[in-house]
Amino acid sequence: MSSTPILTLEGVHTHIGAYHILHGVDLEVPRGQVTMLLGRNGAGKTTTLRTIMGLWQASQGQVRFDGHVLASPGRQLATPDIAQRGVAYVPETMGIFADLSVKENLLLAARHARSIDDIDTHRLEWIFGFFPALKKFWLYPAGKLSGGQKQMLSVARAIIEPRKLLLIDEPSKGLAPAIVQNLITALRELKRTATSILMVEQNFGMAKALGDSVAVMDDGHVVHHGRMSDLVEDEELQHRLLGLSLQAHQ
Ligand SMILES: Nc1ncnc2c1ncn2[C@@H]1O[C@H](COP(=O)(O)OP(=O)(O)O)[C@@H](O)[C@H]1O
Ligand SMILES: [Mg+2]
Repeated sequence: MSSTPILTLEGVHTHIGAYHILHGVDLEVPRGQVTMLLGRNGAGKTTTLRTIMGLWQASQGQVRFDGHVLASPGRQLATPDIAQRGVAYVPETMGIFADLSVKENLLLAARHARSIDDIDTHRLEWIFGFFPALKKFWLYPAGKLSGGQKQMLSVARAIIEPRKLLLIDEPSKGLAPAIVQNLITALRELKRTATSILMVEQNFGMAKALGDSVAVMDDGHVVHHGRMSDLVEDEELQHRLLGLSLQAHQ
């Protein structure tokens, strides 16, 4: 924990059109850990991920990633440049192409590959190790995969090229509990390879299973940050911070 965080947000404000959505977000993502971003619906979690990715522009404050300034007053890197520096984003909508095969979906995500032969086979095997279903359904249209498998394909697309930080928005959304369990197992394996992950999650079970650190948002800013294990042990804090969203998932 003594090394500098891989990602730091300081006093980040984001406006979407006329609406002021983020009100000074302060957030640190430690290297090689999973940081969970929790909070009720509408708290600003997705907007935070989109701001990190440059899909929304910060109107104030600073975003720093691994020695680079991604956003600061009057300066905003474009999304492809942010991706180039090593940040990958798995949006809530997953963004996979239903009519294309698993293979084609992965190939399209590998920006430097023109054919599957250009993708490092070690890397592919490494990904199949987490998500064996992708190997099994390699030539199937992605639209035919189950919800959990689509989510795995979506994560696989984000890591088909080496990345330093993975942003994942609510991967468990809409998945049956048994599938969530598979996803937890796969992401736990991925985490062991020392990728840094910032994950938005509403499912407290998943947050508990994967999170090292936690930040809780409310009303456009971070209202709590600390170790996940401390939040897990403190039920009063859970209720105060997460309220109904917690009860709904237990
Ligand atoms: N494209 C948009 N236009 C206007 N308001 C938006 C837009 N996207 C999000 N918001 C608003 O910003 C707030 C935070 O949204 P969001 O970041 O999606 O929350 P969360 O992911 O925590 O549920 C909500 O009040 C939402 O209605
Ligand atoms: Mg959201």
